[in-house]
Amino acid sequence: YQQLAPFPQDFLWGSASAAYQIEGAYQEAGKGQSVWDQFVRIPGKTFKATNGDVAVDHYHRYQEDVALMARAGLKAYRFSISWPRVLPTGRGTVNEEGLAFYDRLIDELIANQIEPIVTIYHWDLPQALQDEYGGWESRQIIPDFTAYAALLFERFGDRVRHWVTLNEQNIFITHGYLTAEHPPAVMDAKRTYQANHMANLANASVIKLFHEKGYQGGNGPSFAYSPTYALDADPVNQIAADDAEQLNANLWLDIYAWGRYPKLILNYWAREGLLPDITAADQALLQDPLARPDFMGLNYYQTTTVTANPLVGGVGLTKQNTSGKKGTSQASGVPGLFKTSDNPYMQQTDWDWNIDPEGLRMALRRIESRYNLPVLITENGLGAYDRLEGAGEVHDEYRIVFLKAHIQAIQEAITDGVTVIGYTTWSFTDLLSWTNGYQKRYGFVYVDRDETDEKELNRYPKDSFYWYQRVIRSNGQQL
Ligand code: BG6
Repeated sequence: YQQLAPFPQDFLWGSASAAYQIEGAYQEAGKGQSVWDQFVRIPGKTFKATNGDVAVDHYHRYQEDVALMARAGLKAYRFSISWPRVLPTGRGTVNEEGLAFYDRLIDELIANQIEPIVTIYHWDLPQALQDEYGGWESRQIIPDFTAYAALLFERFGDRVRHWVTLNEQNIFITHGYLTAEHPPAVMDAKRTYQANHMANLANASVIKLFHEKGYQGGNGPSFAYSPTYALDADPVNQIAADDAEQLNANLWLDIYAWGRYPKLILNYWAREGLLPDITAADQALLQDPLARPDFMGLNYYQTTTVTANPLVGGVGLTKQNTSGKKGTSQASGVPGLFKTSDNPYMQQTDWDWNIDPEGLRMALRRIESRYNLPVLITENGLGAYDRLEGAGEVHDEYRIVFLKAHIQAIQEAITDGVTVIGYTTWSFTDLLSWTNGYQKRYGFVYVDRDETDEKELNRYPKDSFYWYQRVIRSNGQQL
């Protein structure tokens, strides 16, 4: 383009986090246990057996963290509410002390002119619901998740304008039920799609309630979208890329936007004996106009490149699963459909994730052209090894280069005609990277702790902090 369209004046420049990854205080002030509190205690599940018991102690240091956000000039901050902190056993008795923490946090943000964006579910399911009825596999999760969300709408709906229902349903379901990397650590394709169907219904039910009650603002899910490319113009590879896009993206996005599963997926499930139990009442809920999201939340990290994956003598060549969140060095895929391949045009991060800013533009364009919904970019960032030097400095030029290229890609997509309402980078402070401990850092603010030593948990703005401050101040003109 000769000239790029400017970012909208009210563009939500921000950062994001999740309760389990920052709060700590894991059994304080009446909080119940989540499935992650228990999962991290299973030997071998996380890097150096790290857990989020203390995390970066945001529960006690939220004022310091919000002051840093204000200094950076953030317009918005996306965080999640811990379900077991406000409902210790998942339903029934409300923990007022838990709600009071989020009241204080929201008020602190607003006092600093930072708009709160609240994620209702970022993976920390109350353990009680997992024990009682198997969590996401049971239909009981639908009324329970809806009642939990209703409590949050009632309590915070006067101050919160943007709500994210489920964070990365595609990741917590596939990693929880297909690859066993997340709780409840199951490996079963049939159960995967059954649990996924329940999550779809729970999501639709919450958005419907939000609209029925007429709360201010908007509501939508955040999807981990890694657009797929074919390795080359060989038609069989193009079909493989289309299959991957159907199975890794449209399967979720079509439900959110249109309330129906792609026909190619229903056929695939029928062939493989994987069809979930879909009732007429389910279909009615999914297709209810009130259950449509107001925006699509997009978590973008990388793209996936695939080739065809023919069956040899009826046997598949690679194990099932590619959610696009894995490193690219090991091929994965679905026998008979596609398998992942290195992409010769791309460099990788320290964790083998493809670095592909144009992929973000592609993701935005595909969402716009297929679904015609505004997009809130709810995550994007670079996980890297950072080094604290001298008097508390971190020279993370590589992060600046990464983010700059991605912001340029957003501006190009806006110029293309996509409606993008905000960009909350992952993450503001460093935080626990679920299974990777604290070595994989994403923040603008370095938190001085590692897997074995909590140290003082001091905060140090990195070079990228000052860079992002300028970006926000200039509304994206000074990159
Ligand atoms: C997303 C999650 O999957 O990506 C975040 O919503 C997560 O919670 C982020 O931390 C980065 O993933 P990872 O594994 O590098 O921490």
